[in-house]
Amino acid sequence: MSTPSKKKSLKQPDTKLSSKESSKNDKIQEEMRVLESEIRSHQYFYYLENSARISDKEFDLLFTKLKKLEAKYPDLVSEQSPTKLVGSDISVSSDFEKVKHKVPVLSLENTYNTEELLDWIQKTDPEQIYSVEWKIDGASIVLYYEKGILKRAVTRGTGGVGDDITENIKTIQNIPHELKSKIDLYVRGEVFMTFEDFEQFNEDFGGKYANPRNLTSGSIKHKYASEVAKRPLQIYTYDAYFPNGRKNIQTHKQALELMKDEGLPLSPDTEFISLKEMEKHINRLKKKKDKMPFPIDGLVIKINHLALRDSLGETSHSPRWARAFKFDAMIQESIIEEIIPQVGRTGKITPRARIKPVQLAGTTVSYATLHNQDYISQLGVGIGAKVKISKRGEIIPAVEEVVEPGLNGVYLLPKKCPSCNSKLQKVDESVDLFCINLSCPERMKHTIQFYCQKKQMDIDGLGERQIEIFFDKKWIQKIPDLYNLQNYKDEMEAMEGFGEKSVALILNGIEKSKSKSLRTLLPSLGLNELGHKVTELLIENGYESIDSIIDLAKNNNAIEILNSLHGIGPRTAEAIVKQLNDASVLDMIGKLKKSGLNFQAELVEKSDIRIFENQSWCVTGSFENFQPRDKAMDLIVRHGGRKVTSISSKTTHLLYGEGAGSKLSKAEELGITIINEKEFIDLLKKDNIPYSNEKE
Ligand code: IVH
Repeated sequence: MSTPSKKKSLKQPDTKLSSKESSKNDKIQEEMRVLESEIRSHQYFYYLENSARISDKEFDLLFTKLKKLEAKYPDLVSEQSPTKLVGSDISVSSDFEKVKHKVPVLSLENTYNTEELLDWIQKTDPEQIYSVEWKIDGASIVLYYEKGILKRAVTRGTGGVGDDITENIKTIQNIPHELKSKIDLYVRGEVFMTFEDFEQFNEDFGGKYANPRNLTSGSIKHKYASEVAKRPLQIYTYDAYFPNGRKNIQTHKQALELMKDEGLPLSPDTEFISLKEMEKHINRLKKKKDKMPFPIDGLVIKINHLALRDSLGETSHSPRWARAFKFDAMIQESIIEEIIPQVGRTGKITPRARIKPVQLAGTTVSYATLHNQDYISQLGVGIGAKVKISKRGEIIPAVEEVVEPGLNGVYLLPKKCPSCNSKLQKVDESVDLFCINLSCPERMKHTIQFYCQKKQMDIDGLGERQIEIFFDKKWIQKIPDLYNLQNYKDEMEAMEGFGEKSVALILNGIEKSKSKSLRTLLPSLGLNELGHKVTELLIENGYESIDSIIDLAKNNNAIEILNSLHGIGPRTAEAIVKQLNDASVLDMIGKLKKSGLNFQAELVEKSDIRIFENQSWCVTGSFENFQPRDKAMDLIVRHGGRKVTSISSKTTHLLYGEGAGSKLSKAEELGITIINEKEFIDLLKKDNIPYSNEKE
């Protein structure tokens, strides 16, 4: 893909224009804006999404056309024209060697409903069988094995050229560096992260990433392989190319079997289905999709017979022998009416578009996310722009592309926080802007909302809306104010929508929260890097009260001490020390203590039956009989065991349930005893240890 060359000297236009000329100019201007927007969106897909939607040649044609118009009509050149950017302004992958793919890495044509899919099957060969596979929502990758050795791992890139990210990919645990036999094989696959791993990892990073796919794409292109190694990435492979001929491989099924025998991880649930069974099978998978532990954005249906694939061939973009089937992906056009920069709990600024309401997947959509300034600039979104809005399953609707730019140019985020007016900043490698003022009112409001959430202090009756009302009335401005809310009991009861009953519920909920332990309280404060996992690690290592943690933070060697604990890295150590020495944080903790909050980790009462003595257990996934899974952890501790939150060589057992992620493969690799729910219950039963069957 070309990048703009040096600007040509531009001729000045005549200043006076006849009305005929001015209407011609309007038309040209419009053409230029449309071209700009098209180029921007292709740059976006190429550089940031790693999936070009047109060929390099087509892109170059668009680019040259715009440049020619700009040279001819310099007066009409937009300040934000993509010809003014250089590749590195938008590229996120400039540090990697560009590699030409040995075979074109094609994309897939989408179908959005069963009729469309069945229509396509009818047009191919309805007598055939088809593989039906999960369409994993991660980052596309090609692995080049030569004589059985993984020589290169390359991103999809343009489909013709990708980034060589071999060193990064080699850190992924389930990827074989060497196949069982010394064959040449090119393999396509998807790098991804399970929801469970994403949540844990994202929590440790202050909830910075929007979804597993973003975190995965960012991770595989990280500068340092040592950092990639820390991220819980996995890979599934789904297609192979045999550079020396297929020999006795005649079907996709045989190719997948060979890949499996060679040690490549295949995506689960792939089945071979006839046209007759197709609709039923798709409906089955639609239901199963939400129970899957990794992100899926549809299915891929491929013809099984390779000779038929060959005869159908491919277009420059996608094979004629496969289709993607998107679950509930809906696209609608709408108009951007307003762009509102929102300040989140972590200070991250998320631009949200208010759009002309449209019906999407059965709901009225009035808002859509615009992610960040880069996203807005690449798409060329401005107020008044006609845009495509998408909604996929549970994900917030997003602005996908600009159909027609608005008249107001590309929207620029403000330089100052819309809530507290402090200067916005970029933090670390993030593309997002942040308000870094810890006392920013909008951040405070979200922090209080976070504190009350079910997963945190779980305060009944205090939802986001109620908190917003009390916040606006200035009854609660910081977390400790919650514990003085009873002072406004009468006013609350008199308010519309807040009867005596709901006020009692709220005040009881607040009172009840005082009995939660440090385990819940500390992560609920919303401090950076101090989530549930880090809190557990601190407790595991003997820091069982807030005082002991604050004392540690005061120690001159605090960062080194924290960093030496398994699972706590330098960034986390630094953040903990900084915040627990901050006067406003200490003041908040002091006030909460005065209100009677429990800053001690509850100690599980120990039993005499010590069947787990000298064992270190890690628990992952979800369980039918232990909900939440802390119930299983408590049993382990009560009966002599130690609980740990991550797998290391010191871990002796892994108890796993539904949706277990990378911990399972890591435990297998380290030869740790792996136990499922039934086996765990059998162990308990052997010693007549009661366990709860009840769900909370
Ligand atoms: S087959 C020529 N199979 O979807 C073969 N792709 O929108 C084309 N994807 O770039 C790919 N799961 O990143 C195939 N089971 C699967 C897939 C899959 C996810 C991704 C892949 C591809 C994109 C196409």
